[in-house]
Amino acid sequence: MTLKVLFTGADGYVGALLGPYLLQQGMEAVGLDTGFYRKGWLYPTSAPRPAVLTKDIRSVTAEDLQGFDAIAHLAELSNDPLGQQSPGLTHEINHGGSVHLANMARKAGIKRFVYMSSCSVYGVGQPDQILDEASPVNPQTAYAECKVKVEEDLTKMAGDDFEPCFLRNATAYGASPRQRFDIVLNDLCGLAWTTGKITLLSDGSPWRPLVHALDMCQAVHLSLTAPADAIRGQRYNVGSNDQNYRVLEIAQIVARSFPGCELEVGQPSADNRSYRVNFDKIGKVLPAFKCQWTAEKGAQQMRQVFERIDMTAEEFTSDSFTRLKMLNRLRKTGLLDEKLFWTNPQVEAMA
Ligand SMILES: NC(=O)c1ccc[n+]([C@@H]2O[C@H](COP(=O)([O-])OP(=O)(O)OC[C@H]3O[C@@H](n4cnc5c(N)ncnc54)[C@H](O)[C@@H]3O)[C@@H](O)[C@H]2O)c1
Repeated sequence: MTLKVLFTGADGYVGALLGPYLLQQGMEAVGLDTGFYRKGWLYPTSAPRPAVLTKDIRSVTAEDLQGFDAIAHLAELSNDPLGQQSPGLTHEINHGGSVHLANMARKAGIKRFVYMSSCSVYGVGQPDQILDEASPVNPQTAYAECKVKVEEDLTKMAGDDFEPCFLRNATAYGASPRQRFDIVLNDLCGLAWTTGKITLLSDGSPWRPLVHALDMCQAVHLSLTAPADAIRGQRYNVGSNDQNYRVLEIAQIVARSFPGCELEVGQPSADNRSYRVNFDKIGKVLPAFKCQWTAEKGAQQMRQVFERIDMTAEEFTSDSFTRLKMLNRLRKTGLLDEKLFWTNPQVEAMA
């Protein structure tokens, strides 16, 4: 039987890869997204893309979800600075909206609910500590607090009629047509390409586990098809043990991938988020999962995309590829209201 999957966040960085990925795996995939970042499309691709319903997760009804076998839920405000600027709104969308969607899914009789959580739930680790799923969570931002709350609330809903699972993804990297340059490796690649120089604002000592966006797609696909007893109510880190990097190492990898790029290292910073993560559990829960990418391969992929499209500094710094800038612009121009609903959905495409 072909699995019919609704995946939210379809017009985001990961969603733009997940749609074609699920179609290629033979699933019937339909996207849902309110379309905050639809204006941005960095490079052409010929990959088949699924249909996308334009809808806010806060307004989804059980009727919208009728007929689907499973949900993969990605649509949230997706980064820390955004969450710190508007913590109330982050809670309303990321926590409230996600729990609402899960309730509607249950009402519509959909059991499988794959939730995109984040390794940022671990917050700050001790210097020699390697965190795993049994480690206490220590969220440092509204974004991470919401991930913890959604995990908690949906875990209480798990049972014979509801099979949520929680993918604690490392920080993503890699090329996507709906590119994000506000995540570390992608940002450094853009700097290397457009300026020939990487200036780290910190000493680069914090640890950041990384995972390629396509390996996140692999984990979502396997979570949609895994036996219920393997994943129901389970949290698992998505990434690989050999992709725990220090920010300095990431910068060195990028500098090596862009010939002639200079690297300047700064002072220790106040940003205390640092964590090293163990990724053994995903191999047990989803035995077929194996990361296909490394930071080196990802940086080279980015360079090849920039070469192919001859990417300009304007494209790199444009609002379209930095989530906070785009939302601020849409709010400032009155296209989004203070709760991030479109004031006139008909002009949304013109944003
Ligand atoms: N990119 C990463 O490094 C990373 C790491 C860990 C976890 N995650 C999680 O993976 C998911 C996808 O991340 P991404 O990088 O693709 O983010 P993104 O910001 O590129 O995409 C999110 C998408 O969700 C949509 N959206 C936001 N709020 C919505 C709402 N209320 N209703 C409907 N649509 C809405 C946006 O329009 C956007 O297209 C997120 O849940 C994120 O927290 C991402």
